[in-house]
Amino acid sequence: MDIEGAVCLVTGASSGIGAATARLLNGLGARVVLAARRADRLDALASELPGSLAVATDVTRREHLERLVARALDTYGRIDVLVNNAGQGLHVPIEELDPADLRAVFELNVIAPLVGMQCVLPVMRSQSTGSVVNVSSATSQRVFPGLGGYSATKAALNMISQVGRLELAGSGVRVSIVYPSVTATEFHDRLRAGHPVSGARSIPRDPPELVGEAIAFAISTGEAHVLVGSPPRPIIPGDDEGWSALLARQTPGT
Ligand SMILES: NC(=O)c1ccc[n+]([C@@H]2O[C@H](COP(=O)([O-])OP(=O)(O)OC[C@H]3O[C@@H](n4cnc5c(N)ncnc54)[C@H](OP(=O)(O)O)[C@@H]3O)[C@@H](O)[C@H]2O)c1
Repeated sequence: MDIEGAVCLVTGASSGIGAATARLLNGLGARVVLAARRADRLDALASELPGSLAVATDVTRREHLERLVARALDTYGRIDVLVNNAGQGLHVPIEELDPADLRAVFELNVIAPLVGMQCVLPVMRSQSTGSVVNVSSATSQRVFPGLGGYSATKAALNMISQVGRLELAGSGVRVSIVYPSVTATEFHDRLRAGHPVSGARSIPRDPPELVGEAIAFAISTGEAHVLVGSPPRPIIPGDDEGWSALLARQTPGT
């Protein structure tokens, strides 16, 4: 898909990867719709990005997602891209994992992207074109002590994304997964519960702009799995080198 002129909804746009992605897409000529709960931050970012729209949104509330889609359609008349990026970590050993915390993070990391897809897919199907990019985590591909709850949510998101991609084959709508490694954002300071796992703080963090480039690559190419790197690259089934590269970049606590 051509990013120039595309209408791109970005959730979690008030900080980190979402804000960096919104800036990058806007710089490439997209009309970005910024969604998160902190309206002051969204408004500040929107004032920097020509032609953008800020919509205060709690993605765990269906009616907020419906309002986000309605505002985008009222303003631009179409929706080309949904970046499901809003998310939160939960870094607690299994014996201490509070089911209430896991339910809350499942709502945010899995159910919200699912409902987001359900809200935009009728629009994208009617346009016969669209791109959904779901922001997962490299941790979804490996087994790390302390990350059972968080990684489970991202593994669930991966499966929903891959099944959705198959179900949408031939519709003109593509679903992609991007796998960030440890990234320099507010993420580790805003965990739902727990602490960054052992060793995570000593690992060099990717800038969020690098993840933004991988997201832009996923939008432009429609690749199913995208590895964050410079440059970003697709990972295709049977591409052992690609998965090895992903796992090599993967680090505890992300
Ligand atoms: N940083 C890493 O090391 C890393 C690694 C792998 C994957 N990831 C993934 O990357 C994504 C972005 O994280 P980040 O690193 O950019 O972290 P971040 O700086 O903490 O950003 C998280 C974003 O999610 C938004 N958010 C949280 N709850 C929300 C809700 N209920 N409704 C709407 N927005 C909500 C936050 O905005 P408000 O609080 O304003 O709502 C914020 O904009 C997440 O899915 C995360 O799992 C991050």
